[in-house]
Amino acid sequence: MRNRKAALSAIAAAASLALTLSACGQDSDGGSEDTKGDAKGSTVGIAMPTKSSERWIADGANVEKNLKAAGYKTKLAFGEDDPDTQVSQIENMITQGVSALIIAAIDNKSLDNVLQQAKDAKIPVISYDRLILNSPNVDYYASFDNEKVGALQGGYIVEKLGLKDGSKKGPFNVELFAGSNDDNNTQYFFNGAMKVLQPYIDKKQLVVKSGQTKLNQVTTLRWDGGTAQKRMEELLTAAYRKDRVDAVLSPYDGISIGILSALKSDDYGSKNKPLPVVTGQDAEVASVKSIIAGEQTQTVYKDTRQLAEVASKMVDAVLGDKKPETNDTKTYDNGSKVVPAYLLEPVNVDKTNYKEVVVDSGYIKESDLK
Ligand code: GAL
Repeated sequence: MRNRKAALSAIAAAASLALTLSACGQDSDGGSEDTKGDAKGSTVGIAMPTKSSERWIADGANVEKNLKAAGYKTKLAFGEDDPDTQVSQIENMITQGVSALIIAAIDNKSLDNVLQQAKDAKIPVISYDRLILNSPNVDYYASFDNEKVGALQGGYIVEKLGLKDGSKKGPFNVELFAGSNDDNNTQYFFNGAMKVLQPYIDKKQLVVKSGQTKLNQVTTLRWDGGTAQKRMEELLTAAYRKDRVDAVLSPYDGISIGILSALKSDDYGSKNKPLPVVTGQDAEVASVKSIIAGEQTQTVYKDTRQLAEVASKMVDAVLGDKKPETNDTKTYDNGSKVVPAYLLEPVNVDKTNYKEVVVDSGYIKESDLK
């Protein structure tokens, strides 16, 4: 019920966002034109986590595009998945006098000091996609409904196995993977999925043969596909010599690709050994291709173009002394404060709807999927 309500209000809010976005600069809840005039032309710092995944490259480019269109200059840095590198990149941006920061954190707990420096220099901070923890100096948060991402992945597994409509009773074997333990989203994805899967595990319709069901047993540092591949190989060796695995909960496409490599090396995907259901997230080109080829089963599409737009609007509002639009002021407590958030809706994608969702929306070019 709560989820449904949240989803409906998020959709309504998204519609209203679309309107206000196109009416940019026309609302005037107390913004002084002078301040705004000063801020325009200033440089906004953008700190992205890594270039190793195509989504973050696109996120960086889209944020730059939106900010430039709104009259700002930009400084974009990618942290190579190394928290120290990201901290020094942000320090450099502060030293260079950026007017605002948009940060997708690598390690959500490593930014407290550098954010204090930002605060001292009166630089507002937008937490991008991943919530920065344990710092009061995070002004706004732009993301997706992260628990729903997990609910879509878990829901897909029980539906695809036939447990949801009762057409199959199981038991089916499932293994669980989660994201990086230093990313706040990880627990939201995992908990969202487990809320769906746990009742079936309790009824023994789903069995986790490895016994690894706790979040701290199933995380994947820095979302690394190779790390996931290795863990999947170990699971197959330890728990699946006689039995087959029927589904794998994967939180992210890069991890799904690693899991699929391990499965294929173990002969899954051959005539008598079909691949299990494998979920994912981000609708990355390699994974959508894998879905079309019948390997990965599902992904969760998050329109990062919209996310970039929301974050850029937040910066523009704050620098113009206006209050950014938010649609969630309760969920994201970062340990220091509840950070007001704007959450977008994630969308379930599989072979049946990838075309209308990711191709027709222009997110991926059809020719890139050939
Ligand atoms: C998460 C993000 C996911 C995925 C993952 C790995 O923080 O929400 O969409 O991109 O990082 O990069």
